[in-house]
Amino acid sequence: MANEKNEWGSNISFLLAMIGSAVGLGNIWRFPYVLYSNGGGAFYIPYITAVLILGIPFLILEYGVGYNFKSSFPKAIRSISKKWEYLGWFLPVAIFMILVYYISILGWDGFYVIISAFKGWGADPNNYFTNTFLQSTESVSGIASVVPVIAVSILAGWFILWFISHRNLEDGIGRVSKALVPLLFIIMIGIVIFSLTLPGAGIGLSQLFNPDWSLLADFNIWMAAFGQIIFSLSLGMCIAFTYASYAQDDSDLVSNVLYVAVANCGFENFAAIGVFSILGYMSLQSGVAVPDLVTQGTGLVFIVYPEVFNVLGGIANIIGPLFFFTVYLAGITSVLALLEPVSVSIQNKFGWSRNKTVTVLCIIGGACSMIYATAMGSYILGIADTFLNQIALLIGVIFECILFAWIFDASKIIPSLNKNSKTLKIGKWWIVAIKYIIPIVLGFVWIGGLFGVIS
Ligand code: PFF
Repeated sequence: MANEKNEWGSNISFLLAMIGSAVGLGNIWRFPYVLYSNGGGAFYIPYITAVLILGIPFLILEYGVGYNFKSSFPKAIRSISKKWEYLGWFLPVAIFMILVYYISILGWDGFYVIISAFKGWGADPNNYFTNTFLQSTESVSGIASVVPVIAVSILAGWFILWFISHRNLEDGIGRVSKALVPLLFIIMIGIVIFSLTLPGAGIGLSQLFNPDWSLLADFNIWMAAFGQIIFSLSLGMCIAFTYASYAQDDSDLVSNVLYVAVANCGFENFAAIGVFSILGYMSLQSGVAVPDLVTQGTGLVFIVYPEVFNVLGGIANIIGPLFFFTVYLAGITSVLALLEPVSVSIQNKFGWSRNKTVTVLCIIGGACSMIYATAMGSYILGIADTFLNQIALLIGVIFECILFAWIFDASKIIPSLNKNSKTLKIGKWWIVAIKYIIPIVLGFVWIGGLFGVIS
């Protein structure tokens, strides 16, 4: 059927969908903290190194093989070696687990879009988030009590995901990416400009960028940089592989990789400027030093930001919902990308239609995510986050490198990469990066992590 065809309608859909997949929660709540706590301005040296030796070469590899195989990830592995097909299912399963927890955080955020309009968290956002909203407990009995408001918020996320993804590729993900990704950047730029006008913004920014050069000799900040790039560019999860398998024949893959890297890194640096300007303002108002305000993850978005909005006055009733809505947009375009490799793997394996596959996956995912709607949900989420992000992603990248660079022999795809490239030409440097540099560097990171060097 023509409308079942998995192909992007244009290069711009492909590019914006890729940018949407990369720009997500990690850019807004992870990067500012990582930058600040790993040497500030000095962090740019390991960070840019990680973009150049890991991010760009690895994305070119994922794009290139996806474009050449034009199939799902497990099917591609099967065509390399039949007996390894089961290994190819490891990534779609891991990515589905990431999706289930990622969409749960998105659900929380969706609820905050609404309550931020009237500062529904009251005078003590910390107490509200932990006790009233999450009803958080670490006791196993907490699994028995589903918090209805969280359940509804999470299921709303699944519904939106289903609503977009069950349509054919261009009508769903393609069209939505073309609308939401530019909107996301525009709102973010607006928020950053507003943040820069706040009194105290300079205090936050000088804290953020103040370089601690001595940390450059510390193994940890190099690992933090590689970890950030893997998470932020969504490497090793066969997302780029899948999106590139839908690319039109004349797509300029190499240039697209460069645009995705620039847009993603530009966005997260922008977010860091916004976050620290606001923290500087908060510090000026409250007398609390910026380092005592800095946190990451849910603490930043659901506690520190509401505290800021509480002191911001009337304008917070506009800026607040806008901020939570921006986080939602960033997350939605990423969950679309997280479902896609799983969905197409099942379509390819069982011959199911896109509509049927997406519907079944959203029902299963919605049911699984109810674990995160329980009073013990946020505790389990912390464990899932650590396991999936510190272990599964790293294994994914090393696995794809060995498989595609060594066993499949990526040098075969160089001509097809260079055929349409109007910017960078792929040559020996790329092979050296994907065959040697990436696996060796990440091997160090992994061993470092196993020995507890990663905090
Ligand atoms: N790159 C996105 C983010 O930074 O939030 C989303 C993401 C997708 C993160 C896939 C991790 C991942 F495995």
